[in-house]
Amino acid sequence: MISRTLIKLSVVYFLVAVFLGNYMGMQQDFRLKHVHVHIALLGWLSLALIGVLYRVYPELAEGWLPRAHLWLHNVGLVVFMGGFTGYVLQGKQFVPALGTGAMVASLGILLFALNVLLRMRPSPKHGSNTSASHLHSFQQTAPH
Ligand code: HEM
Ligand code: HEM
Repeated sequence: MISRTLIKLSVVYFLVAVFLGNYMGMQQDFRLKHVHVHIALLGWLSLALIGVLYRVYPELAEGWLPRAHLWLHNVGLVVFMGGFTGYVLQGKQFVPALGTGAMVASLGILLFALNVLLRMRPSPKHGSNTSASHLHSFQQTAPH
């Protein structure tokens, strides 16, 4: 469930990044390049990858840690990008929003990192439904 939410959110960031990229190219105005870059990398690529990781390692999708990460990463990123846009187009009064958003997103990413480092289970070795065990049983039964 949380993995679907992340992948759907990531696709929204993908659209925003790609349309902003087109807009910058058409206008030949690259002032919002860093907004484009971080929406693409922190929004689209990072969130899509994390969504897929939660399917590959389902234990990482359980509990409050992935939910706290999702909220902090997304709210932080939107405030960070809004602040960055305001800073570039309007001026320094947007620096506090930019900085707060970046810190909130970074805190979310810290929680994601802790989730992976502390809660990812080692891969099962014996009697499991892995491709390695399939290969093993194939070798035992295959005619020589
Ligand atoms: C059709 C889609 C896209 C368009 C039209 C586009 C357009 C642009 C433009 C105009 C720039 C500024 C280039 C400059 O300053 O000279 C740029 C920079 C950049 N874009 Fe995109 N972009 C697109 C998609 C993406 C995606 C999907 C990603 C990442 C997943 C991405 C990552 C970057 C990065 C990292 C830079 C900074 C490169 C640098 O500073 O050297 N872009 N893009
Ligand atoms: C909350 C986390 C992050 C913060 C606060 C942050 C902040 C920054 C800042 C301040 C710059 C320099 C802007 C400038 O030169 O004026 C930058 C550049 C850049 N960042 Fe990040 N960043 C973050 C995460 C990431 C991540 C996760 C990626 C990649 C997956 C990334 C990719 C880049 C790239 C490619 C550039 C260079 C863009 C260019 O020069 O065109 N950043 N970032």
